[in-house]
Amino acid sequence: MPRLFSWAGHRLPSLPCVPCTGDAAGPSSPSSQAAETSMSLRRRGDGSGSVAGRAARKFTLEQLSAATDGFSASNLLGQGGFGRVYRCHLRLDGDDDDAGGAMTAVAVKQLCRGGAQGSHEFVVECAMLMTLRHPNLVSLVGYCAQAQERLLVYELLPRGSLDAHLFLPLSGDGDRPALEWDTRVKIAHGAARALRYLHEAVSPPVIYRDLKPSNILLADDFSAKLSDLGLARMGPSGDDTHVSTRVMGTLGYCAPDYALTGRLTVKSDVYSFGVVLLELITGRRAFDADADAGDERRLLDWARPYLADVRKMYGRLADPALRGRFPRRALYQLAVVASLCLHDRPNLRPTMSDVTRAIDHVASQPWQAAPAGAGADAAHHRAKSCQI
Ligand SMILES: Nc1ncnc2c1ncn2[C@@H]1O[C@H](COP(=O)(O)OP(=O)(O)OP(=O)(O)O)[C@@H](O)[C@H]1O
Ligand SMILES: [Mg+2]
Repeated sequence: MPRLFSWAGHRLPSLPCVPCTGDAAGPSSPSSQAAETSMSLRRRGDGSGSVAGRAARKFTLEQLSAATDGFSASNLLGQGGFGRVYRCHLRLDGDDDDAGGAMTAVAVKQLCRGGAQGSHEFVVECAMLMTLRHPNLVSLVGYCAQAQERLLVYELLPRGSLDAHLFLPLSGDGDRPALEWDTRVKIAHGAARALRYLHEAVSPPVIYRDLKPSNILLADDFSAKLSDLGLARMGPSGDDTHVSTRVMGTLGYCAPDYALTGRLTVKSDVYSFGVVLLELITGRRAFDADADAGDERRLLDWARPYLADVRKMYGRLADPALRGRFPRRALYQLAVVASLCLHDRPNLRPTMSDVTRAIDHVASQPWQAAPAGAGADAAHHRAKSCQI
């Protein structure tokens, strides 16, 4: 999906690449920014993460080039608006490659060369990831800032990003969907916990600003980790209710209030979470450029009638790829959470604590998926006996 934001006819490219100057050393280097960020952020202490500056390894371009076979296409994991991401192995135990120690699989993001905007985001991302720690945030292994090159080295998430699993064409009869219901709930839960941490465990809050499936990475067991903190901003402190900023984001995920006014609050993230939750429920993209023009293109336009009467219409939201294998009551509950997150008025959107609690509740309800083929009927019978 293009890194463009469009709302009410306005289109803003988010990434003008203009030359950056100098090396990332000195006052705005990743480590000095991390130290500043760490001093600015305090931990509120929910026990699920921490705010503590930590060293990230500094790699040379030669090391990363050798590890990726010269950034070869065969190691390419994906490409986004800021650059390309490669898979490779690095020895992390010592500076000397001959010193022994296990090789670790990592993902290396090579940022668009010479972009001042990209360079700023590089420093922000390093600083945030060196400072913030949570099981549902990707870990930064290290970075490289050499001449015009900016690279980030992350832990490798073996299953890649959520979009690759969620938006698959419907396959033949009887096949299991790529993502079962429980897996979708687990992913929503992980993303919600990460946002709760950013909003509520650190002070001032951190506003993530770029929640979308390609930024939700998946571990082997499908636990979710948010990546890409380059657009993250420290939120308001003291009596301020918002920060004013240039509108940045991705088509389909940006809260309308933020898009129209540039006033950024944690509730902007809550809105984006509502969009992602709706994508998990429906299997539809927030914005599908390939779909027929009209209501089919924007998920929210398509879903509006169902969300307006969610109690009666929630069943229509279900992803056909689930083939009826989902607990109807839980689907209804998640649809309600999504519609609350998508409220036009930011003040009326829930907090991420509220959302996490609601998903905890959904996840705690016992549910046994019916075997493939028997799904729709079994779900139907269960629905008859379950109260919403
Ligand atoms: N740590 C990682 N582990 C595994 N795969 C990754 C990792 N980081 C990124 N990827 C893969 O690389 C792809 C590109 O990531 P990248 O963040 O550059 O772009 P994007 O999220 O698709 O778009 P955008 O630039 O708009 O954020 C991702 O979709 C994902 O599949
Ligand atoms: Mg990304």
